[in-house]
Amino acid sequence: MNTCVIGLQWGDEGKGKIVDILAENSDIVVRYSGGANAGHTVIVGEVRFALHLLPSGSIRPQTTCVIANAVVIDPEVLIKGIETLAQNDISLNGRLLISENAHVVLDYHKKEDRLREESLGKNKIGTTIRGIGPCYADKVGRSYAVRMGDLRDLESLKTKLQSIVEYKNKVFSALYDAEPIIADDIFEKCKTYAEKLVPFVTDTTEFLHKSISGGKSVLFEGAQGSLLDLDHGTFPYVTSSNSSSLGMSAGSGVPAKMVDKFIGAAKAYTTRVGGGPFPTEQDNEIGQYIRDKGNEYGTTTGRPRRCGWFDAVAVSYAVTIGAIDSLALLHLDTLSGLKELKICRAYEINGEEKTFFPANIAKLAQARAVYETVPGWEEEITDVRDFNDLPLNAQDYVCRIEELTKRPITIIGVGPKRTQTIFR
Ligand code: GDP
Ligand code: IMO
Ligand code: MG
Repeated sequence: MNTCVIGLQWGDEGKGKIVDILAENSDIVVRYSGGANAGHTVIVGEVRFALHLLPSGSIRPQTTCVIANAVVIDPEVLIKGIETLAQNDISLNGRLLISENAHVVLDYHKKEDRLREESLGKNKIGTTIRGIGPCYADKVGRSYAVRMGDLRDLESLKTKLQSIVEYKNKVFSALYDAEPIIADDIFEKCKTYAEKLVPFVTDTTEFLHKSISGGKSVLFEGAQGSLLDLDHGTFPYVTSSNSSSLGMSAGSGVPAKMVDKFIGAAKAYTTRVGGGPFPTEQDNEIGQYIRDKGNEYGTTTGRPRRCGWFDAVAVSYAVTIGAIDSLALLHLDTLSGLKELKICRAYEINGEEKTFFPANIAKLAQARAVYETVPGWEEEITDVRDFNDLPLNAQDYVCRIEELTKRPITIIGVGPKRTQTIFR
């Protein structure tokens, strides 16, 4: 049985928690897109892990962890991630595979990300400054790219870095009047990366196909959210990869046809970090209530997340383009204590009601959320483990989201811990 977990909103839906739970019954867990812009939280007992590149299944000692082709790898973050697990007595020796074709995020990518954002002023995208866009741009441009496999041949890499750095310095100087970077410094760092990471570098596509043929169960872990997809999200306020389920095949080399189940993760409300349209945003005391109660601060950057009501138009779009089979609805507990709740069931655009999400931001800017208002519940629900023990209004809220998204909600989060979960 192969499963894929995908974020259905603008990221941070709680994918890490769901992947960690499902990893218990998986042989292999795969990250296949994005980079260290991701921050996936897994809480085990009193320990809180924030995973940026390692799959969230890596906390489970029986899993084999794969970082596949389309991930952009910041070696420093990855090495730190491996060391953090080791400090918690979780070893990845013999159970981590890194694609030789995955691209490497180097210091000049992070510098370029920062300089570009700074130069854009109020028009900035609000990136995580993790070098994601510049690294993917180098991948698409091809001539100045470094892949994990290049770390195996340091002599050739040294020459390659010299030409890359020469080019980058021209850009930094001409566009940003910025200090040059030094090729030797980058190369020295690459030597350390090579020493620590080359033992894990391999052909992950071959490994995945052989494993699937051999009957192993694979869990694919999406990063970011469907609405941040480069081609299908709210461009340009997106990330630089295909973060909807459409990116799973290209990212891992395993066709979607070989995946039995796509599970979409969504919060019981909506959050977004960085710029871009957000039709159900509540930049008011409701948004602040959700932010405080749900601890809505970025796992990677610590930025406060923008918060708003559940948007069934946006989630249904992600469900449709992602062929999502069922939903995991997280953070239902965060809504406890609100007198009434709103669910966006349509957008009004130029006097017309629309239920298909317009990914074009010019249209989205004109969209007014059409809400239905439902009663909330007072009770805290973090100790509830059976759907029927939820307050009736909470049950109705979940059922209404099922109706609007036309998918069953089979997992409900009532708190950040593994155990704070309802299965239906
Ligand atoms: P991801 O990027 O999708 O893995 O999500 P993040 O880890 O960035 O953000 C989700 C946050 O919500 C984390 O702090 C989780 O510990 C927390 N979380 C996950 N599920 C629930 C839930 O059902 N209730 C509450 N209160 N917190 C949750
Ligand atoms: P996880 O996997 C939430 C957002 C950034 C910014 C935009 C582009 O934890 O859900 P980038 O650095 O990718 O160029 O930034 O995308 N973004 C995320 N928002 N969760 C994430 O990952 C995100 N990864 C990128 O805030 O708006
Ligand atoms: Mg996150």
